[in-house]
This record gives sequence, C-alpha cells and structure tokens, in this order.
Amino acid sequence: MNVETPVLDVAAVTRRFPGVTAVDGVDFAVRAGEIHALLGENGAGKSTLIKILGGALRKDGGVIRLNGEPVDFHSPSAALAAGIAVIYQELVLCPHLSVAENILMGHLPRTAGLAVDWPAANRRVAELLAQLGVTLPLNAPVGRLSTAQQQLVEIAKALSRDSRILILDEPSATLGQRDLDHLFAVIRRLRGQGVAIVYISHRLEEIFAIADRVTVLKDGRLAGHWPIAEVTMQRLVRAMTGRDLGVVTGREGDAAAPVRLAVRNLSRKGAFADVSLSLRAGEIVGIAGLVGSGRTELLRAIFGADQPDAGTIEVDGQPARFRSPAQALRRGLGLLPEDRKTQGLLLDRALRENVSLASLRRFTRFGFLRPAAEERVVRELIDDLHIAARGPGQPVMTLSGGNQQKVVLARWLARRCGILLFDEPTRGVDVGAKEEIYRLIHALAAEGAAVLIVSSELKELFAICPRILVMREGRLVGEFAGLDLREDDVVDAMLMGGRADAAPTIAAG
Ligand SMILES: Nc1ncnc2c1ncn2[C@@H]1O[C@H](COP(=O)(O)OP(=O)(O)OP(=O)(O)O)[C@@H](O)[C@H]1O
Ligand SMILES: [Mg+2]
Repeated sequence: MNVETPVLDVAAVTRRFPGVTAVDGVDFAVRAGEIHALLGENGAGKSTLIKILGGALRKDGGVIRLNGEPVDFHSPSAALAAGIAVIYQELVLCPHLSVAENILMGHLPRTAGLAVDWPAANRRVAELLAQLGVTLPLNAPVGRLSTAQQQLVEIAKALSRDSRILILDEPSATLGQRDLDHLFAVIRRLRGQGVAIVYISHRLEEIFAIADRVTVLKDGRLAGHWPIAEVTMQRLVRAMTGRDLGVVTGREGDAAAPVRLAVRNLSRKGAFADVSLSLRAGEIVGIAGLVGSGRTELLRAIFGADQPDAGTIEVDGQPARFRSPAQALRRGLGLLPEDRKTQGLLLDRALRENVSLASLRRFTRFGFLRPAAEERVVRELIDDLHIAARGPGQPVMTLSGGNQQKVVLARWLARRCGILLFDEPTRGVDVGAKEEIYRLIHALAAEGAAVLIVSSELKELFAICPRILVMREGRLVGEFAGLDLREDDVVDAMLMGGRADAAPTIAAG
C-alpha cells in the first residue's frame, strides 16, 4: 500500500443530537506512522467524531474506510478488534484490578485447564511495556497509580490488541510537563512502529511540538487541514475561532490597596511547609510549580477543605480558621478546584441550575427566587465564556467536556467571591474561551477581588499574573514580579529551588 494512502479515511460523516449537528459532513484522513492533531473549540465535535470511530456512538451518515474497506462499528469491542483503540477524556480502567489484568482485560492467556496463565500474562505485559519503553508495577491495583501511569496502562492495553490506530482525547489535560514529555516519547515511538495516532489537545504549543498534520473542526464542520510545517499558530486559531486573538496582559497590583488575604507560615504535614504570602485587593498572583509541588494542597488548606497543622490565615485583617469550605464561603472565599469531575456538577440538571447553585442567595429576595435575575446572569456567563449550549435549559450531561468545565467556572464567577482561588482555571478549555476567562479574571480584579491562580501552563501565568510565586517540594522558593519576571528564572526556581536572591519576600499584612 502506498504510504500516502490513509489507513483511516472518513468521508462526509454526520452525527446529530437533538438541536445540534455535532459532526456535520466531516472528511478526515489519517496515515500510518503519523501523528495527526484534531483541533477545535469546545463543542466543535471532536469527541463525537472519535466516539464514532471507536464504536461508542453510531453515525447518522457518511462512510468510514479502514485500509480502503468500508467499516461500521456497532460497539467499542468491534472497533478494537479492527485495530482502532480510543483513549477517552475520562479513563475507563478498573481501579481494583492490577496493571496486568487491566492491560490484558478480556484476553488473559489461559492454561489448558482454563486457569489464567500468570507467567505468560506477565511476560506478555512486560513485552508490551518494553515496546513502550516504560516500567510499571504489574501487580499494583490501577487505582493506586498516578493519572500519567494510568494513561500508559490504557496505551499498553491498546497495544495488546495490536491496534494500528491509536486515538487520544486530550491526554495532556491532566499531565504535568515531565509526564507529558514521557507521553510524547511513547507516542513518537509508536509512530516509528507505523501506528497512526490521532491526538486531541487545546494546547497549541503541544501540537507544534508533536503533530505531523492537523485537522481543525469548527461547529461540527471541517475548517481545514494542513501539514504542520505549512501552518502558523495564528492560522490555526483563526480556523478554530473565526477570529484573531488579542493579547491580555497583567496589570500591576496597587501597593496601597488593602490586604485581603494573608497567609503566614502555613504548614500541612506531607503537603507543604512554612508558606507565607499575601494578596491585596485587585491583585492577581500566580503560583507556578511542578505537579506534586504542593500548590493544590495549599489552596485546599486556605479554603478549609484540608486542615493546616500550623500557621495562620487572615481575611481582611481578621484571623480566619476555616473548619470547612462552607465557613470559607461565608467569608467570601471561592475555590475552583483542579478536579472538576468530583465538583458536584448535577449532570442531569440544566446548565442554569448548575451555574446558580452556589449563589442562590444572590438570586433570592424575601425567600423567593428571582428567576429573571438568575436567567440574565446565567445568559451573560454563557455568552462571556462562549459556552456552546442551546440555552440555559440544556442538561449539563449533554455538553462537551470543555463546556462542562466552563459551567463550573461560571458557577464561581456568578457567586462574585471577593477572594478567588483558581486551580488550573483553563484546563480543557479552548483558546478563544481561555482569552475570555483571562478577561473575566481581570474584570473581577478590577472590581477589587483578590485572585490566586495555580496553573501548570507557564504561558498562562505570564499572560495574567504580574506577580508569580514558585513552589517546589512543598515550599515557596521564589517570588518574581515586575522586571524580575522572566520565564527562565521561574523555570529554574521550579526545577532547582531558584537563585539565592529570589528567596520569598513576605509583604507586610
Ligand atoms: N449526548 C448528547 N446529547 C446532546 N448533545 C450532545 C451529546 N453529546 C454531545 N453533544 C453536543 O455535541 C456537540 C459536540 O460535542 P463534543 O463533545 O463532540 O465536542 P468537543 O469538540 O469534544 O469539545 P471539548 O473540547 O469541549 O471536549 C456539543 O454541542 C455537545 O453539546
Ligand atoms: Mg471533547
């Protein structure tokens, strides 16, 4: 077969849901031994398309050809048997089973007596992992592994079926830089073995680092496809969003503004130690650091979700010791957590209810809900955040992954907290919406809110935070602002603990 012949050829494929054509006559072709990026805004139809390819959803029209032969999968196992493996936005492993059992699920080698042949199973798994160039604890329950390791289990599982097409839906959304580099090494290795890889991500830098070709969807339709060498970042953004993005930059905080949050020598055993920082009204401060540096734990302890062992917290000059998030909420704090999945989205309820959930008081007068006020705020947020939905009544379950993330963000924005703690605020969110979120964060700060942002994307921190703190192994190891705010220095501090002169300075409270 000619190398230019696609292994997978999608022609005019369509899938409708009530009120929306999620995939609308899309053509899409992937060749053996290439990494093909699939891009598009939240709700553009990426996940729907690959669910069709993976046999998890039926198409309404169009043709899919595998090695030139038309195929139509009625189930994920049919797609897998044909050599197409999909790793979905949510991983689907059995947490209680071991790594080996998960990888060989459904086709564990058996002895003549039909018992599982463990020596053979372990040999097979070891081979697969060697092929990927990774090591994993074979007998550990998968639930104990990190997200990055679980992803590798999923990939090994795909390989165990000799998949020739591997599709990854936003694998990087939950990974730190080091795990990402590792994942890229694995993916490149598979490409070298002739596997065709489809890679979905909202981080465009990643696409330029790894993809050979790129296809963009917009509103369910094909917006273009290019070899990566022939396209610029700006071109991709325009294809996705239909516009050029402006530049949002941070505004220096006002040194005379009152301190809203002061944290002194805060410690929590095994998580972080001796952290001091302060946040003035109108300030946006970033916290950089590697995954595991204690950033998420710090935010949780400030918010009362975990209890610190030592140290003090002051809110608006008053000592604050939150025994629970509910107490923190009453004092005007809000936390947008890293893990949105566990954040109580009411999946079968309307977008409207999910957004207004945390701010019912704002929409209530004399005990009565004011639906008009609620409706107006919810509609504004749907607009501001570009949430792709038919309207406030759409059940959250039927929104795309990124749009569900935006709903959680909208909930906190609706509540108008005076002190906002954001953990990875734009994870899984498309470029256009990212920009809108930055604008909204600026607007909140301009109205006097104090904002603390944890992000694994340095570019994001540099775009919105005039002051950046760096955490490493549970400690604050650097603080950079103004002319000292240089990316190299921040990265050095993240990796090595920073320069001697970059010791944390503690603003007087
Ligand atoms: N089960 C469903 N019922 C109704 N509409 C749905 C359903 N699943 C998806 N949709 C709609 O189809 C459209 C495409 O969604 P899809 O999940 O494919 O987007 P996506 O490109 O993967 O976005 P994201 O980047 O946010 O993951 C969206 O408008 C979404 O609301
Ligand atoms: Mg998706």
